[in-house]
Amino acid sequence: MVKKMLFICCLLLATIFTACVRKTPELAVQNLRCEFLSNPQGIDIAAPRLSWEITAPGRGVMQTAYEILVASSAEKLKNNDGDLWNSGKISSDSTIDVQYRGTPLQSRSDCYWKVRVWLNNKKDSVWSEPAHWSVGLLHPADWSAKWTGLDTFFVNDSPHAVHTRLSARYFRKNFSADKKIKKAMVYVSGLGIYQLYIDGKKIGDEELSPDPTQYNKRVFYNTFDVTDQISKGDNAIGTILGNGRFFTMRWGRSNIPPIMNFGYPKMLLQLEITYDDGTVQKIVSDSTWKVTANGPVLANNEYDGEQYDATKEMPGWSKPGFDDSKWMSAQLVQAPCNKIEAQMDPLITVMDSIKPKSVFQIAPGKYIVDMGQNMVGWAHLKIADGKKGDTVTMRFAERLKPDSTLYTANLRSAECTDRYIMKDGDQGWEPHFTYHGFRYVEVTGYPGKLTSDDIEGKVVYDNLKTTGSFTTSNDVINQVYHNAYWGIRGNYRGMPTDCPQRDERMGWLGDRAVGSFGESFIFDNNTLYAKWLQDIEDGQLEDGSLPDVAPTYWKMYTDNMTWPGTYLTVANMLYHQFANIKPIDKHYASMKKWLYYMRDKYMKDGIMTKDTYGDWCMPPEDPKLIHSQDTTRITAGAYLGTVTYYRMLELMEGFARLTGRTDDEKAWSDFAAQVKVAFNKKFLNPANDQYTNNTATANILALAYHLVPDSIQSKVIGQVVHTTMTSFHGHISTGLVGAQQLMRTLTDHGQANLAFKLASNTTYPSWGYMAREGATTTWELWNGNTADPAMNSGNHVMLLGDLIVWFYEDLAGIKSDSAQAGFKKVIMKPRAVDSLQFVKASYHSIHGMIKSDWKVKDNDFDWSIAIPANATAEIYIPAKSAGQITEGGKKVDDARAVKFIRMDGNYAVLEIGSGNYHFVSKEFK
Ligand code: BGC
Repeated sequence: MVKKMLFICCLLLATIFTACVRKTPELAVQNLRCEFLSNPQGIDIAAPRLSWEITAPGRGVMQTAYEILVASSAEKLKNNDGDLWNSGKISSDSTIDVQYRGTPLQSRSDCYWKVRVWLNNKKDSVWSEPAHWSVGLLHPADWSAKWTGLDTFFVNDSPHAVHTRLSARYFRKNFSADKKIKKAMVYVSGLGIYQLYIDGKKIGDEELSPDPTQYNKRVFYNTFDVTDQISKGDNAIGTILGNGRFFTMRWGRSNIPPIMNFGYPKMLLQLEITYDDGTVQKIVSDSTWKVTANGPVLANNEYDGEQYDATKEMPGWSKPGFDDSKWMSAQLVQAPCNKIEAQMDPLITVMDSIKPKSVFQIAPGKYIVDMGQNMVGWAHLKIADGKKGDTVTMRFAERLKPDSTLYTANLRSAECTDRYIMKDGDQGWEPHFTYHGFRYVEVTGYPGKLTSDDIEGKVVYDNLKTTGSFTTSNDVINQVYHNAYWGIRGNYRGMPTDCPQRDERMGWLGDRAVGSFGESFIFDNNTLYAKWLQDIEDGQLEDGSLPDVAPTYWKMYTDNMTWPGTYLTVANMLYHQFANIKPIDKHYASMKKWLYYMRDKYMKDGIMTKDTYGDWCMPPEDPKLIHSQDTTRITAGAYLGTVTYYRMLELMEGFARLTGRTDDEKAWSDFAAQVKVAFNKKFLNPANDQYTNNTATANILALAYHLVPDSIQSKVIGQVVHTTMTSFHGHISTGLVGAQQLMRTLTDHGQANLAFKLASNTTYPSWGYMAREGATTTWELWNGNTADPAMNSGNHVMLLGDLIVWFYEDLAGIKSDSAQAGFKKVIMKPRAVDSLQFVKASYHSIHGMIKSDWKVKDNDFDWSIAIPANATAEIYIPAKSAGQITEGGKKVDDARAVKFIRMDGNYAVLEIGSGNYHFVSKEFK
């Protein structure tokens, strides 16, 4: 115990040390990760992948060798005794994806580890701070716990009403720990969502956990070290189970498609106490637990809200000595499936809080709270003088009507209402079994005058680090970025959702095709998306068909290329951005199965005939419409299907190469060549160098996916410029499919200034128009302020397309080389578009921090760069010639660790290693 505390102190000190190091980049090996997670508990993998980062002063620092020690205790590690693994000194510059190759790990193994590195500029090696991982329960036989629940409903429940109502289930068990405790771990899955308590204290700071999965195929458990929470003598453990996505939010005939229902909440819990004498006591979920549904959480439904009755609180219910004689015995219930796995991505938590911008009264006793930001989570309410039995009601919405009342039409049937029944006196409350997407809260029944000190917005999403920052001299772009940031964080709920507010909130694949890539600059979404790929595979049908929504809570199998294709584009993104190759290998077979299924069923003469959604949500001609009806704006389904199929073949060819499937590589490439011929034969009109009906989407996608013959590329991009400037008066004309390639393709073909115009427009349709109309997140529709509320969310991320990728890769110039993935080699090619005076961006890559900070001053391009240790960069400086450039005041030739390579158009191309640089390119235009 003391040893453990010491270890935790060391970790803390190391973290503080690390934080200090960030300010002054001293030499350090830090940010140690196991399976891309920091100090994870209960991983599911016996031979995990390890990674670390090096920060180092100076330039051109590379790792030449490393040594990893893994020990079974903190002491052993301290004494450099890697009893589990001593890798020895390995000559390598790898810092990512180094696989553990020590003594085979068992369930419950504790692994303390550190790494030392040798650098090219230093004789001595440098040790990292220590880190830790533990292994969970690897085998079904490790579980002696039983699935426990109560397969029935209670007096106040209405499980079969359209708006299902179920009270939360409280489970408890007393136990005593009679010897000196060495260690105690809990492995718990509470479905849909749970909260865990020991001796009256909540364990962990997670919310809405575990992650939602395809529950009939796979469920997750979470692991907690509870050594410090258990004391010698009497203890009690308790859980509260809510519905989450396990028990359906809608029953029978509702206005939306049926949502899968997996049954009443249930749990599997195993507490293992290891005593100093080596004996182990297990407290497991089974029918000896007591249960009640007569607690304070009267109802919980993610669409409709939570109802909480504080008068029904049960003080001490999770402490020993509580009188549970009126509680029932829990039942043994059926397992949801036979695959129980550790959750390998961060748990959802309260990540931020917001003070309201204003609170005002619109009628006696009816307040409107304006958070000033469309956010996702819930509100915490403080009450100074409550009256027992009275109810405070909070209703949530994204917008207000002109009369300042809530606008709820776009929430469709979601009630988004929390009800709190007060006890006497001073109290505070927030829900834990629902969430809302909102900017405004209507509060009624509040005792006294509600002020902004009494209510706070809690921002709830997956605990993913923010890795990017981005600002420019253009306020519209900055607001558009802000809106994207809030939309992305609001739509992570253990899966990427389409929206957080209405009766939907599903993991629609198409919305994230390239969006996930842009998001990966802002959030460390690596493990979340790896998890989602498994959801997608779990949703695949026997015949190979992939779903449009994963997990398949809505069963949508419409067979198209653009939505399921996200399966491949996300896998590609994980490799490109994070050098995480495992998902490609893991899902290769099912990707292939899907492509062959689509080919066999729908491909005719190289043309993919099947599509479902078209270029979803392109700007319609009439501001009231959701979808355009003008055929000149609509890109043909077979076109989208074929262009996307071709893109998938290109990806598969790359995947086969990366994973050593040489025969396949050739087969994919031959297949792609056939499709290319068929595609151009069918869709290219040689008379006028246009693709199909000449929409921007059609021409852009053909260019982006390398289908356009070289000789006419400039003509095809010319078509895009022409359509954009004439038919759309300098505005975007694509929906979510075209938008995925628009900004980068324009830029790659010499139209960066037009791309910038689209990004900074403030008239309809544009991202800036949304911002000008007051949006603080991105809308589902370009005309979100005027369209039919039937499908009109104020917080969707799909229309962002490749905008965020373009911000980072093209405006800031922070891009990973595709051959040296995960920013091992950085390609920096900032586009100094005419109307920007500066861009300041940073990205904490898997190799460390990258910075790009440029400004244009008196026609000079002034650029500060930071490249992390053990990475290199190829940088493109806008310049007339290399002679016009200085670094740190010196000519490039004389500057330290800077190598001029060549001129490339208006850029001088240089090679640099790690370190900080300051370039000035004189009179670059
Ligand atoms: C969702 C979208 C989704 C689309 C596809 C909508 O209801 O909100 O984001 O991609 O349906 O049909």
